[in-house]
Amino acid sequence: MTGHPLASEWDLDPACVYLNHGSFGPSPRPVREAREAWSRRLERQPMRHFCREMEIELDRAGEVLAGLLHTQPDRLVLLDNATFAMNVVAASTPLKPGDEVLLTDHEYGAVRNIWQARCRAAGARTASVSLPFPPRPTETTAAIAAALKPETKLLVVSHVTSATACVLPLREICQAARQRSVPVCVDGPHALAMLDLQLDSLGCDYYCGSGHKWLCGPFGSGFLWVHPRRRDAIQTPIVSWGGSIAGRPASWKDSLQWLGTRDPAPLLALADAVRFFTPDVLAEYRRWSHALISAARQRLLQIPDVTPFCTPAETDFVSMAAVELPQTAGWKPGYHGHPDSLQIQLRDRHGIEVLTGSWSGRRFLRLSAHLYNTPQQLELCTAAVAEILQQERRDR
Ligand SMILES: Cc1ncc(COP(=O)(O)O)c(C=O)c1O
Repeated sequence: MTGHPLASEWDLDPACVYLNHGSFGPSPRPVREAREAWSRRLERQPMRHFCREMEIELDRAGEVLAGLLHTQPDRLVLLDNATFAMNVVAASTPLKPGDEVLLTDHEYGAVRNIWQARCRAAGARTASVSLPFPPRPTETTAAIAAALKPETKLLVVSHVTSATACVLPLREICQAARQRSVPVCVDGPHALAMLDLQLDSLGCDYYCGSGHKWLCGPFGSGFLWVHPRRRDAIQTPIVSWGGSIAGRPASWKDSLQWLGTRDPAPLLALADAVRFFTPDVLAEYRRWSHALISAARQRLLQIPDVTPFCTPAETDFVSMAAVELPQTAGWKPGYHGHPDSLQIQLRDRHGIEVLTGSWSGRRFLRLSAHLYNTPQQLELCTAAVAEILQQERRDR
């Protein structure tokens, strides 16, 4: 079986088997070309681009994205990434001593850092709710609902978790939080394109997204969705001029759209990523990558002591899945910037890029696939993992 016909739209290094789209998702040709065209246009006449057309074009790109997200464009602002969007929410959340921000134990490390810093500055605190293992929907919602207290001022929860790669029951979680009058901020970079998003009916207050994961937008493209009931409180963590550079009527987005001089090309070309993913291409990406990841996961689960981790069934994931690995004698928990020896060996001996790490003291391997990956690449990877783990068993 060969690759997908759309694979030729990507320009990946043939020396590498790239199975980490979940961390950094490269763009297909039309998206790269659109980003380059916007940058060229800026270079030809900077005053025209920055002062007259940028805001209009950002609005146009936002409208295209709003269609995919099933929301109204005036609820969306385009920002560099989900990290920046989360920082905006942190700057916009009033907190005082004694208040609490609740996160789950599956939240992304950088997100945890953002809220710890914000809470420290306000004399408030973060709390972490441990979800059931594995996080089945009903029990997950119940665990979060039980952890919401009168002092909880915000719930921060992933739509699709990072290390554990599971889809959380967002609609039910938002409903439980609203019943207790707790606003919800969703950390959603993996959900864009992976899932059908209906932001206006999800029930959250904020949704932070990145375009450079499954939607294959340019690196440095993301968004913040804000419910109108929160709009007036929006504050910027990067203070600049604040108003509209083109002199149009004021909008809640103004302080977030001019952050000093920077090339808006990635944000403008995000619209081209949405256009690339027609409904057929979107369905094809999900079908193709799910088949690849399911087969690879099956193969990994045949290796002694490799277990399903947080996604026990094939229906629990789309294009990214993690499995739990046996721990070696000298294994130390590490994650960001401290790759596991398995990740290093896959990269250095086999030319394969994956994500490994630790979550809650457990050792995991996460595989991602997109339209440019082939069944043979996944087979190569699982065979290499089997060989490395066998060597680890011998060394134990
Ligand atoms: C769950 C989750 N949240 C937030 C982020 C941060 O995304 P970005 O680096 O695009 O801001 C990531 C990145 O991998 C993530 O997996």
